[in-house]
Amino acid sequence: MPMDNQTLRELDKRYIWHPYTQMKDFEKRDLLFVDRAEGVYLWDLEGNRYYDTISSWWCIVHGHNHPVIRRHIKEQLQRLDQIHFAGTTHRGPVLLAEKLARLLPFELRKFFFSDNGSTACEVAIKMSLQYWKHTGEKRKEKFIALERGYHGDTIGTMSLGGVPAFEGPFEALTFDSFTVPAPYCYRCPCGNRYVPGEGPECSLECADFLERLLGKEAENVAAFILEPMLMGAGGMISYPSDYLTRVHELCTRFGIHLILDEVATGFGRTGRMFAMEHAGIVPDFVCLSKGITGGTLPLAVTATTEEVYSAFYADYNQGKTFFHGHTFTANPICCASALGSMEVFESQRVMEGLPEKVARLQEGKKAFLDIPMVGDVRGIGMVAAFELVQDKRSKTPFDASKRAGWQVYLRGLEKGLILRPLSDVVYLFLPLSVTTEQIEEIMALTRNTIIEVSSSLLPGV
Ligand SMILES: Cc1ncc(COP(=O)(O)O)c(C=O)c1O
Repeated sequence: MPMDNQTLRELDKRYIWHPYTQMKDFEKRDLLFVDRAEGVYLWDLEGNRYYDTISSWWCIVHGHNHPVIRRHIKEQLQRLDQIHFAGTTHRGPVLLAEKLARLLPFELRKFFFSDNGSTACEVAIKMSLQYWKHTGEKRKEKFIALERGYHGDTIGTMSLGGVPAFEGPFEALTFDSFTVPAPYCYRCPCGNRYVPGEGPECSLECADFLERLLGKEAENVAAFILEPMLMGAGGMISYPSDYLTRVHELCTRFGIHLILDEVATGFGRTGRMFAMEHAGIVPDFVCLSKGITGGTLPLAVTATTEEVYSAFYADYNQGKTFFHGHTFTANPICCASALGSMEVFESQRVMEGLPEKVARLQEGKKAFLDIPMVGDVRGIGMVAAFELVQDKRSKTPFDASKRAGWQVYLRGLEKGLILRPLSDVVYLFLPLSVTTEQIEEIMALTRNTIIEVSSSLLPGV
């Protein structure tokens, strides 16, 4: 007999510790118990429908439960379920690598598989470090990252993370690295003018922080890592492509690797297949995960150059092997899901349909600026973000005890929206399959949600 809804909920509370969740928040309320999904919609146990406005942690690309992805997975299950990837190979990763080689810049043609975004970045970090050892640059052991950057929850990626709430308690475990201020235009680290909804008015002085640091430390630095065009977990901070161009130029000039973490931005989310295309640059490493399978199953790829690869290619006794791997590396079913997603991109000409949707979202977001507690609106591609503040003029944030973002989350649920603000940044991170009508409805509901919370937090403003 199937278990009743109440028992399921009680068992969840009895046994499960959820990620990124203060469990006490759910002492007197239930977690949203999701039962099924289709397209951009989710349904709970009671059959209530919600918009999945954050693409289930930024990974769903073509909508949930896409029939083409389902078919690929089903067919794969008849053939091969799991196989270790050291000394063996199989169809899925081979076919996927061939597709990625065509999508990515020509120089990125060596693909290392793993199974989540953090490990995709860990692999790039380790490869970069080992590359410099193999090429005789033994002092190059430090990494540079951005304040507010996020690359995962493993010890290595936390060492390069810039979100104190996430990494703070683990400081004793993390390795020393350099951080430079982020191109966070709304709160410009150089004090330059910025018009919310329009953009910055500056000469990218924030990139000078990197230049100055490299001027002193380049010989000790292996790589600079950043999220191209959009810093996700640090607050959905979109920034100009010129910053990326400048960073690329600096990394090349000072002889360090550039690692682009496209775990969240890859596969169309920013309006281009990969965010780096906005700047037309080619890094030394690109980290991919989340959307690579269309979001259905876990898989990751670290793409790098022939030059990096060849520094490891040697007789075994020279000790140049890259000793890294995970049990589910390039799992056949996950690769099948990725191939299904690639088929959807091609057969449904997904990228060609995007500009109109992107325009709707990016234009529509500006209307939020008239809400008293919305200090900034920003975004790129299928992502729009709204930074909530206590006082617009001074950009003073809300006191954390007000929990403005959390209140928006709760109010959103009542309206059939699953928003999941990053502290006080409310955002939409939509699948590429969403229709323009759905975009309009999601924006109208989100706007009403924020207006309601705004008038309760800032009465009379
Ligand atoms: C930019 C970026 N890098 C890395 C990660 C880590 O990915 P995962 O959660 O799959 O380990 C994330 C996850 O949100 C991310 O947004």
